[in-house]
Amino acid sequence: MTALDLIRARAGAAPVRLGLVLGSGLGHLADAVDGVAIDYADLPGFPHAGVSGHNPRLVVGDLEGVRVAVLGGRAHYYEKGDPTVMRAPLETLKALGAETLLLTNAAGSFRPEVPPGELMLIADHINFSGLNPLIGEPTDARFVNMADAYDPALRAALAAAAAAEGVALAEGVYAWYSGPSFETPAEIRAIRILGADAVGMSTVPEVILARFLGLRVAAISTITNMAAGMSDEVISHEHTKAMAPLGAAKLERLLRRWLRGLA
Ligand code: HPA
Repeated sequence: MTALDLIRARAGAAPVRLGLVLGSGLGHLADAVDGVAIDYADLPGFPHAGVSGHNPRLVVGDLEGVRVAVLGGRAHYYEKGDPTVMRAPLETLKALGAETLLLTNAAGSFRPEVPPGELMLIADHINFSGLNPLIGEPTDARFVNMADAYDPALRAALAAAAAAEGVALAEGVYAWYSGPSFETPAEIRAIRILGADAVGMSTVPEVILARFLGLRVAAISTITNMAAGMSDEVISHEHTKAMAPLGAAKLERLLRRWLRGLA
């Protein structure tokens, strides 16, 4: 049985409208969905997401009156060195009917006025890794246009939802660093000069794949730390997991408000 058949058998065949990917420390948001949860381990082709702080389950069901499919955790390039690792889950969201994909992550900020605990709507990205999940894709469809990859109308709607909810939402450019080691302060200075506002180890390959699949994309970072060399705090995965809940509560309010507008 394919992942798609299995999901439809367990969660019903009604199309979902939205796919949601939850980043480090945000996985508990999947529990807010009134629906059916399926472990990735039961879904052929899904990755064995092995990063603590993630919740490797697909949940299909209702959130604020919208049928959604939530990926409670992601697999990262740095786990096995495979930039296509999220392709099967994203293809499955698309096959389930999703037209829109909202990605979330934890990130380090370059902007002192966007400190830990704040949210940043991603306006564009810099692929600092040089990797691409479409390398080896045989058709001309691989030449994906990445202008406005972060859908302007979705960004406006999310910004409006944040304003209505009284949640501050910065906007900026996210740079993808392969990880799993964190950046050096010199790398952070370099990436900053290139024009990034935040840095993290995910999301960018998923955005490329999602645009390839024809999904509309939006993405929000929860800022968990100032980037390397910008503050005295010691950056660690423990710190990321400890700080993510600060932004997660605001992110949940923002998302619920936005979804109510869609319902
Ligand atoms: N760098 C890379 N990834 C991250 C960071 C960071 O500073 N914070 C959270 N994820």
